[in-house]
Amino acid sequence: MWTSKRDLVTMHGAEASAIRSVLHDAHWDEWEGDECTGKTVANLFFEDSTRTRVSFSMAAGSLGARPVDLTALGSSMSKGETLLDTVWTIESMGFSAIVIRHGEDDAAAMVASRVHCPVINAGSGRSQHPTQALGDALVIGEAHDRTDGWDFSGLRVVIVGDIVSSRVAGSNIDSLRMLGAEIVLVGPGAMVPDGFMGCTVERDLDGVIESADAVMMLRIQFERGAGELVGARDEYVRDYQLSEQRAKAMKPGAIVMHPGPMNRDLEIASAVADGGQSKIRKQVNAGVRVRRAVLNHALDG
Ligand code: CP
Repeated sequence: MWTSKRDLVTMHGAEASAIRSVLHDAHWDEWEGDECTGKTVANLFFEDSTRTRVSFSMAAGSLGARPVDLTALGSSMSKGETLLDTVWTIESMGFSAIVIRHGEDDAAAMVASRVHCPVINAGSGRSQHPTQALGDALVIGEAHDRTDGWDFSGLRVVIVGDIVSSRVAGSNIDSLRMLGAEIVLVGPGAMVPDGFMGCTVERDLDGVIESADAVMMLRIQFERGAGELVGARDEYVRDYQLSEQRAKAMKPGAIVMHPGPMNRDLEIASAVADGGQSKIRKQVNAGVRVRRAVLNHALDG
C-alpha cells in the first residue's frame, strides 16, 4: 500500500497489515494536534470534489500541517501548463506532500514517480480511490464490531451499479478482499462484466440482497459516459435501485452505503439514503479520520 517514500497511490496489492494499521489509527483518532506542525500539504484537485478535498484540508489542519488547495480552474493549467510542470512547480515550493485528484487513471502513479515528496491519490480516473476504500472499511468494521483485529471474514459486501466506471469499487474490491470479506458485484452486463476483478457477479439484486452485511450503492457516472450503459432509466430503477422494498429485505444489522455524491432516486431511493440503515454520513466522517491517519503516516508525523 505504501511505497518506500510513503506514497499511497493504490490499494492493489496492499497488505492487510498496512490497511489494518490505518484503520486502527483512524478508529481511535487520538491526535495531539501538532503531529505535523511545520509540514505543508498541496491539495491538487483537477476534478471536482466536495468530500475528499475538504476532508484532506481538514485532516491536514487538525494535525498541525498547513494545507494549500489548487484546482484546475484558476491554475496555470488553463494556459496550457502540463500536469507534470504543475506538480514540479508545486514541489519546487517545498511542499511536504502532494494530494492529487485527476481524471486520468494513472495520473497519481505518474506524479508519484516524478516527485520526491509523498503523493496521496485522492481519486484517479476509473481506477483507484484508496482513501475512500479505507474510510469505507472503517465504517464496515465499526458497524459490524470488527474493530478488534479488523478481520472481515464471514462478511458479505454487495457492490451495486456502475462498477466499470468506479474507482471506489476498484479500491474497495482490493481492500475488502484483503481484510477477508466476500465481495459480490451486481449490475447489468455493460456495467459489471462477468468475472470483474475475479469477483462473483450476479445480475439479480433481489437474489442477493437478503444475504448482504453491507450494500454499497454506486453512482451512475454520467460525466464518464455511463448514461449510455444505463439503458432505460425506469428499467434501471426497477432492476438495480436500492428501493425501500429492497432495503426492508436486508437482514437486521446490515448497512447501506454510498460514497457520494448520490443521484437520489436513481441508484438509491431518497428514503433509504436518509433511513436508519444508512451509513452514508458516517462514511463522510470516516473519510476525515482515515485521511488524518494517512497524512500522519505520509508526513512521518
Ligand atoms: N466520494 C467522493 O470521492 O466524493 P467527492 O467527489 O465529493 O470527493
